[in-house]
Amino acid sequence: MVILTAFLILFLILGFVSIFLFSTKTLKLKTESSTNPTSYPLIGSILSFNKNRHRLLQWYTDLLRLSPSQTITFDLFLRRRTIITANPENVEHILKTNFCNFPKGKPFTDLLGDLLGGGIFNSDGELWSSQRKLASHEFTMRSLREFTFEILREEVENRLIPVLSSAADYDGGRTVDFQELLKRFAFDVVCKVSLGWDPDCLDLTRPVPDLVEAFDVAAAISARRATEPVYAVWKLKRLFNVGSERKLREAIGTVHASVSEIIRAKKKSLKIGGDVSDKQDLLSRFLAAGHDEEAVRDSVISFIMAGRDTTSAAMTWLFWLLSQNNDVEKKILEEVNNESALGLGFEHLRGMSYTKACLCEAMRLYPPVAWDSKHAANDDVLPDGTLVRKGDKVTYFPYGMGRMEKVWGEDWEEFKPNRWFEEEQNYGTKPVLRTVSSFKFPVFQAGPRVCIGKEMAFLQMKYVVGSVLSRFEIVPVCNNRPAFIPLLTAHMAGGLKVKIKRREH
Ligand code: HEM
Repeated sequence: MVILTAFLILFLILGFVSIFLFSTKTLKLKTESSTNPTSYPLIGSILSFNKNRHRLLQWYTDLLRLSPSQTITFDLFLRRRTIITANPENVEHILKTNFCNFPKGKPFTDLLGDLLGGGIFNSDGELWSSQRKLASHEFTMRSLREFTFEILREEVENRLIPVLSSAADYDGGRTVDFQELLKRFAFDVVCKVSLGWDPDCLDLTRPVPDLVEAFDVAAAISARRATEPVYAVWKLKRLFNVGSERKLREAIGTVHASVSEIIRAKKKSLKIGGDVSDKQDLLSRFLAAGHDEEAVRDSVISFIMAGRDTTSAAMTWLFWLLSQNNDVEKKILEEVNNESALGLGFEHLRGMSYTKACLCEAMRLYPPVAWDSKHAANDDVLPDGTLVRKGDKVTYFPYGMGRMEKVWGEDWEEFKPNRWFEEEQNYGTKPVLRTVSSFKFPVFQAGPRVCIGKEMAFLQMKYVVGSVLSRFEIVPVCNNRPAFIPLLTAHMAGGLKVKIKRREH
């Protein structure tokens, strides 16, 4: 009884001390910016967070617009303090100037660790930099020209175009989910580049491989962990292996088993010589460097994760935006027709600057990675004066930045590819793309961890957009504005249902 009473008293004292500490901390935070979400002692902003949990993008964007420094700060119960910024100077500080102080950090790597292990996407320090160095060979101009371009050509000409042709030739035009087709296309490409393995997802007569579905489930559930108001909830579900965490464990089991099987097959083929093209994929490079099987598995899973849904999301939104902006579509067609008299080659694609501007403009409004977080290694001060404490979660927010009047001007809401070109042009010369700071447009991140697949992504997207538009009209069956869903990578809710029509020349 005495022990129980002593525990009760101790518990009450601890409760009062933490209420006092939290309330002084939140009062201090409130004075930093009046646009921070409403905060209460002990529980912080959990009530506002929970109320807006299903519209976090809009909520954060609204708060950031009101904030004089385009930065907000809040606490959540038992979670690290969160700082969200849409201020380009802060973004430069986090991603470049003081890069070493803003690693992904353990709280981030915990969220994705079950799926991604120590892969490049989910690691810091030496573990990250050694993978980055090794992978960089895969993304040189030479490798893009000699290896990736050939994969793209095959996948576009022999798979995507025939699938669209058959949809167009179907009586009255069959309705297809264009987002789904682009996802399958991108999955094939990234698997061929990363693993040297062809899942052939655009063969619609066959069910998609188990690996594809398992990837979808695992990525979605891992992303939802981050939107739980209290992290202890998913951690407890994982401990007891129930609900979504049970599904996640099963999906990860399938991903790991499938990738391990591909690795073993690759090892065998390398031992018996294989053909030369076998050795250009990322998996062969990692194996040749002597990494153990688990490290190699984690590495390639990260690459598949990073490259699979990003390009398909960007292209899906662009095709929808083009269906609402016929004048822009016409200009892309002019560019493609000028560039491709002899078919779209590697150099033609590099020259397609209007199509590139359209892709950037689509990603400004609908970025494939809507937000991205780091965790402060030490106390710091951001350029706008926001105090950062060791352990704080610091998020830069491309979705909000693309919608900020202070960053893009009054017409931020309009889809205007011309904003990506220099205004001054000499008569008769080709318009020149403007240099836009990657800290104002951090859709591919920026600084030392800038997306390693950026050039490959543009090559792929220009090829698809040019090849598809020059042959077909993509007509959405419904004209309502689709909803943008930000999971690990964003997608269009319900897909993009379209009719495919052959273009008349
Ligand atoms: C439109 C297409 C793409 C967009 C918008 C995009 C965006 C991004 C962003 C925002 C990051 C930083 C994520 C983070 O650190 O948390 C990133 C990293 C990365 N991306 Fe991309 N990406 C795209 C396409 C690709 C492609 C096609 C690949 C190639 C397979 C790729 C490979 C990677 C890798 C490996 C990283 C990790 C880099 C590192 O941490 O050093 N990405 N990407």
